Amino acid sequence: MSSFPDVRLRRFRRTGSLRGLVRETRLDLQSFVMPLFVAPEPLVDEALPAMSRFTVDGLLREVEGLVRLGVSAVILFGIPEEKDEQATGAWEDDGIVQRALRALRPEFPELVLLTDVCLCEYTSHGHCGVIVDGEVHNDQSLELLARTAVSHAEAGADVVAPSDMMDGRVAAIREALDDRDFESMPILAYSAKYASAFYGPFREAAGSAPAFGDRRGYQMDPANAREALRECELDLEEGADAIMIKPALPYLDVIRAAREAFDVPIGAYNVSGEYAMVKAAARSGWLDERQAALESLTAIKRAGADLVLSYWTKDLASWVGSSPVPGTG
Ligand code: PBG
Repeated sequence: MSSFPDVRLRRFRRTGSLRGLVRETRLDLQSFVMPLFVAPEPLVDEALPAMSRFTVDGLLREVEGLVRLGVSAVILFGIPEEKDEQATGAWEDDGIVQRALRALRPEFPELVLLTDVCLCEYTSHGHCGVIVDGEVHNDQSLELLARTAVSHAEAGADVVAPSDMMDGRVAAIREALDDRDFESMPILAYSAKYASAFYGPFREAAGSAPAFGDRRGYQMDPANAREALRECELDLEEGADAIMIKPALPYLDVIRAAREAFDVPIGAYNVSGEYAMVKAAARSGWLDERQAALESLTAIKRAGADLVLSYWTKDLASWVGSSPVPGTG
């Protein structure tokens, strides 16, 4: 074994090009997904631009810009006109996400359209399932989640991503999709979704904070990693095509563990709080946003994520520079 002075690791660190030659992890825009909020009324968020809401028309213009920048995938979240106990806005044929999909699909045939399948933005109480006797009822929520996924598929989604954390939702969604001849529709399951404090800005943007209680009765305990692997395994057994860990930065160990345990595509959700922390620190002059964002996204990929949902996707597109996706827009 040779070592110093024969070995000098600084030799390959001398210049940017030398570092580039031996870089182990790269940020490829094609593996990033931009989250977008569609609502009846627009709402510009100056402090956190990625948390802005678009009308369907506004969304078309925003997506046109994203596609021109080279972004190849978006995930849609809807804010309905009205909320009710049955989350009607989540699954009805002319729900806000369904209308957005029908508008986007023909305009951007090659753009990957993912949808978040959950009830919390659509229920009057803000929980991710239906309430029976004061509790989120698992099995009664499955039917509505499956109906939501099918309606997204019918409206033109490419991938459905259930984020509700009900037991058995992946199987219920797979069965409902197959019954309607959507056997080619992939499911990206939010398998290990933690009951996290880092969803704050999202809940504000989506208007989905629970009216009572919290989500700890269905989302995962932040203290558990082995349980995350069980969640991933069960989702895969139920038919998930890809799994996701969420949030990303506080759970890099879970991403790494899932990477080592499963040979399936792994997603990571770099959530709103992770984005907001850097934004806030940058505004105070404490951090350089671009450097901190690039380092964060690199860390998520280095931990083992194949695809990353991030509010920085649009910025990343302009930071890394890239040619537009051919044949779109
Ligand atoms: C819906 C959903 C949430 C997020 C994604 N899908 C909110 C939640 O579970 O409270 C959070 C995303 C983010 O914070 O960026 N269930």
